[in-house]
Amino acid sequence: MLDTDTITTPDGRTIGGTVMDLRNITLRFGGVEAIKDISFDIREGEIRAIIGPNGAGKSSMLNVISGFYVPQEGEVWYRGKLRPKMKPYEVAQQGIARTFQNIALFEGMSVLDNVMTGRLGHMKTNMLSQAIWWGRAAKEETENRAAVERVIDFLEIQAIRKTPVGRLPYGLKKRVELARALAAEPSLLLLDEPMAGMNVEEKEDMSRFILDVNDEFGTTIALIEHDMGVVMDLSDRVVVMDYGRKIGDGTPDEVRNNQAVIDAYLGVAHD
Ligand SMILES: Nc1ncnc2c1ncn2[C@@H]1O[C@H](COP(=O)(O)OP(=O)(O)O)[C@@H](O)[C@H]1O
Ligand SMILES: [Mg+2]
Repeated sequence: MLDTDTITTPDGRTIGGTVMDLRNITLRFGGVEAIKDISFDIREGEIRAIIGPNGAGKSSMLNVISGFYVPQEGEVWYRGKLRPKMKPYEVAQQGIARTFQNIALFEGMSVLDNVMTGRLGHMKTNMLSQAIWWGRAAKEETENRAAVERVIDFLEIQAIRKTPVGRLPYGLKKRVELARALAAEPSLLLLDEPMAGMNVEEKEDMSRFILDVNDEFGTTIALIEHDMGVVMDLSDRVVVMDYGRKIGDGTPDEVRNNQAVIDAYLGVAHD
C-alpha cells in the first residue's frame, strides 16, 4: 500500500500522499550498474529534486520513472499500481510528461507545431472515425488547440509561436520544450536539467515557470538540476545520488548538512 497521508514541509507547504514509489531499483547496462538498489518516493504536488555528480545515474533514474527503462530489479509503484512493462506512449497516457537533458525538438518546425506534438497522446480519433464522425474529430481538434494556446500564454511565448525552433536562442528552446511537455497536461512532470547551459536571467525565468506550473496546476515535478542555489530555492525534497547509489534524501537543509553529501558532491566541482 502507498502512503496517503499528507505531510507539511519546513516552508509550510502541504504535500500529498505517495504518487510514485521506487523500491530497490537496480538498473544495469551490460556490466555497468547505473542504479544500485535505490528506493525513494515522490509525493503529490511536491517538487522533488534529484542531484549528484555527472555519471551518478540521475538521467537513468528519470528514465526509470518515465517508463523508458525497465529496471532489472526492484518495483515501480505508480498511483497505487505496480507498473508492468509499459511502452513510453502508454506511460504518457498515465499523465507523465518529460523534457530531455539534450533538447529534443523538431528544429525546422514552428514553436506552435512543436508544442502541438505534446498533444499526440490526447488524439484518440483515428482517420476512419474522423471520416465517419467528423463532429467528434473537430471537437477534439478544438480542445487540442485550446490546450496548446493556454500553455503558450502561460509560458509567455506568444511572440514566437510561428518561429522555427531552430532559429531560437537556447533558453527559449528549453522553454518550448517545457511547453510541449505541459501541453500533455501531465500530473507528473519530469525535467532533466531544465536550466543547464542557461545564463542567470534565463535560469530565473525558468525557475519562476517551474514554480508557477507547480502552484497553478498542482503538477508534481521531479527534476534533475546541478545548480545548488536553484535546487535549494525550488525543491521540497532532494534525493542525492553518487555512483548509482542514494547517499542522501531529505529537505534541502537536511541534504545540505549531510556529511556524505558534502564529501561526494557539494565540495567538488561538477560539469
Ligand atoms: N544507454 C546507456 N548505455 C550504457 N550505459 C549508460 C547508458 N545510459 C547511461 N549509462 C551509464 O550509466 C551511468 C549513469 O549515467 P546517467 O544516468 O546518464 O548519469 P547522470 O545523468 O547522473 O550524469 C554512467 O556510467 C553512464 O555511462
Ligand atoms: Mg544526466
